[in-house]
Amino acid sequence: MFIRNDQGQADPTGTGAQHLVLLGAGGDLASRMLLPSLFFLELDGLLPEGLKLTGVSRTDETSDDFAARLWESLRTHPRTLAAGGAALAWSRFSARMDYLAVDATDPEAMKRLKDAVSPDADLFFYMATSPSLYGPISRAVQAAGLAGPRSRVVLEKPIGRDLISARAVNDAVAEVFSEDRILRIDHYLGKETVQNLIGLRFANALFEPLWSNLNIDHVQITIAETHGVGDRWPYYDEYGALRDMLQNHLLQLLCLVAMEPPSELDPEAVRHEKLKVLRSLRPIGRAEVAANTVRGQYTAGQGGAGYAEERGTPSDTETYVAIRAEIDNWRWAGVPFYLRTGKRLAERRTEIVIQFKAVPHSIFPGAGSGDLDANRLVIRLQPEEDIALSLMNKRPGLSRDGMRFSPVSLSLSNSAHGAEPDRRIAYERLLLDAFDGNSTLFVGRSEVEAAWAWVDGIAEGWRESGLPVQPYPAGAWGPAGEGVWRS
Ligand code: BG6
Repeated sequence: MFIRNDQGQADPTGTGAQHLVLLGAGGDLASRMLLPSLFFLELDGLLPEGLKLTGVSRTDETSDDFAARLWESLRTHPRTLAAGGAALAWSRFSARMDYLAVDATDPEAMKRLKDAVSPDADLFFYMATSPSLYGPISRAVQAAGLAGPRSRVVLEKPIGRDLISARAVNDAVAEVFSEDRILRIDHYLGKETVQNLIGLRFANALFEPLWSNLNIDHVQITIAETHGVGDRWPYYDEYGALRDMLQNHLLQLLCLVAMEPPSELDPEAVRHEKLKVLRSLRPIGRAEVAANTVRGQYTAGQGGAGYAEERGTPSDTETYVAIRAEIDNWRWAGVPFYLRTGKRLAERRTEIVIQFKAVPHSIFPGAGSGDLDANRLVIRLQPEEDIALSLMNKRPGLSRDGMRFSPVSLSLSNSAHGAEPDRRIAYERLLLDAFDGNSTLFVGRSEVEAAWAWVDGIAEGWRESGLPVQPYPAGAWGPAGEGVWRS
């Protein structure tokens, strides 16, 4: 793919120069996630040596003002305070960085960017902007003469709002960048435990023989958040939980749980396996939505204000979705995958639960098979990171009425395993991989489109059947969902 320099970094030119152009540098994603991630990589000495960074946005400010604002927010961050040499790292970081106030869709204005980048540099255009701008920005990059073979583009979700609009965005970007030069980010794939899930499945021989409908009863994947939509509602109202979270993060987690072992940890091999899962998802349409999906919306409660109050007027947008999905292939036939996500729920919790089947018959007098809890593997991503396997264990001691059991948990908690004391932002891993030319944790076009095709069926089913949003009080666990969720 890309030639690598001595440090193993992608370097098609052989000069070592890499230049990240951050479009939308004044926005929320850039200031909360991307710029801090880049600085923390600098703190840990992980940024490529020759890397330059240009922030681009329409806000009229100088490079010095942009840097001063950024340092103001970074210098009191616990990771900055905990690190030795933060001031030195900042001086290295700020020396790499400048800022350009231009409209990135204007080809003439983008020519100014050309003066700021070295002609030999390996360029990354990171689109932290509205997806409607991905096409126009790509064209402006091309017109400014910056879309050569050494240029790549990083796209944030959401890519489109449905299959048709996703195709339009992908086509517009493809006019300028070939598929191997497009990196689509799903930040969930940068989370430590998500990568560990790949390790758990494929670095251990133990689980693979059990990993199918022969031994697994069902799988539950939850992304529960306690915060509400707040002032993001103009975006959120158009998307809802189905398009904002399920089409991407939840389906990516499902793919990693359900995919066949790839032949190697290579982008093409992994994408191919994930795509097979997405294409095997049983369609859920008008006739199935009532039995297999729940839509909810938070109302005022212990956890805060209601969505309608935040938005100012009532709306039909779901802030909670639960879906009972099925994968029609040999490995997973008959195993429900329960997916749910919501805002203003009772707890912040992201986890994947693999529920194994109960023992077929109990040999213990006094303990029926129902008294023995079935084994369960819980892969927890947030708030803490942990992988725990629950097993039945004999309660110690003498007893005349047979053995008694209780579930115990074998935990692979990262903190007990010499984990990094401060958790990394998921973007750190993904940015580093982008610089290294490793696209395994990025999402391919066909995956995005297959996920939309399935999600579109559900959205259409909702529209055609008029399935209403069910209210749930902020701070609760969402609406009841008989058959769509297992408690
Ligand atoms: C984003 C969604 O992709 O992921 C947000 O747009 C959501 O609505 C966020 O809050 C959750 O990410 P994390 O990493 O905090 O779980």
